[in-house]
Amino acid sequence: MRVTINQIKEMKPKGEKVTMLTAYDYATAKIIDEVGIPLILVGDSLGMVVLGYESTIPVTMEDMLHHTRAVVRGTKQAMVIGDMPFMTYHISVAEALKNAARFIQDGGAQAVKLEGGVTVTEKVSRIVDCGIPVMGHIGLTPQSVNQLGGYKIQGKTPEAANKLLKDALALEEAGAFAIVLETVPTQLATLITQRISIPTIGIGAGIGCDGQVQIINDILGSFTDFVPKHAKQYSRLSDIMSSAITEYYNEVKAGSFPTAKQSFSMDESILAELNK
Ligand code: KIV
Repeated sequence: MRVTINQIKEMKPKGEKVTMLTAYDYATAKIIDEVGIPLILVGDSLGMVVLGYESTIPVTMEDMLHHTRAVVRGTKQAMVIGDMPFMTYHISVAEALKNAARFIQDGGAQAVKLEGGVTVTEKVSRIVDCGIPVMGHIGLTPQSVNQLGGYKIQGKTPEAANKLLKDALALEEAGAFAIVLETVPTQLATLITQRISIPTIGIGAGIGCDGQVQIINDILGSFTDFVPKHAKQYSRLSDIMSSAITEYYNEVKAGSFPTAKQSFSMDESILAELNK
């Protein structure tokens, strides 16, 4: 049985921290699931850390479904959340419903996430009404990077802080089961966390959130283009990979790989027949 939204919501009053990580492939998702992380987000950060785009904007439903299915196949206990890509929930409620349903029916996810506050609440409540759990996402919403003028800290002015609080309250009211707070001051994230009854999951939002989410490549140190300030590298996988690949390269060039251990042999009599 996978983690449910009720189990996640019940963690807040108990003061139990919620952990969430992104995953995009079968093998990584399997490791995350076996560790016991309850929430796995197939984030549209896929666009940058896996597909090499400059932003999340080019990511399509087909990209997301392809990777969501792989993550679902690699997991047993975690709730898998599909991140709705740019323009798949903006045009109409009908399109938002259709695309959310695809994550559940074709992708095998148990929930979806979408960016935005007050402006998306109608869509959130209609998706929830159809039986699909929704995670909100406010603060720095990367799909709006062009409107925001870059990947900047959000909610620093009184108006912006007030707007974020209103967005969080509106998402709670619309039926979201949790809200990601991205790149907002610790004090504001803490205040929002105290004002709503559903868990807040922070990324660059400080220690006062109910839980934390990180991009798997950032904590493993496998993405080398940049390291966001909010990320802690628990490993330097890129260095480990680079030295393993260099060793392989050198051994092939030197003729020392493969050895008998990585090779297969055949019956000498069959070989003798071939040589006649
Ligand atoms: O796409 C993503 O990985 C996300 C996280 C940063 C929350 O939305």
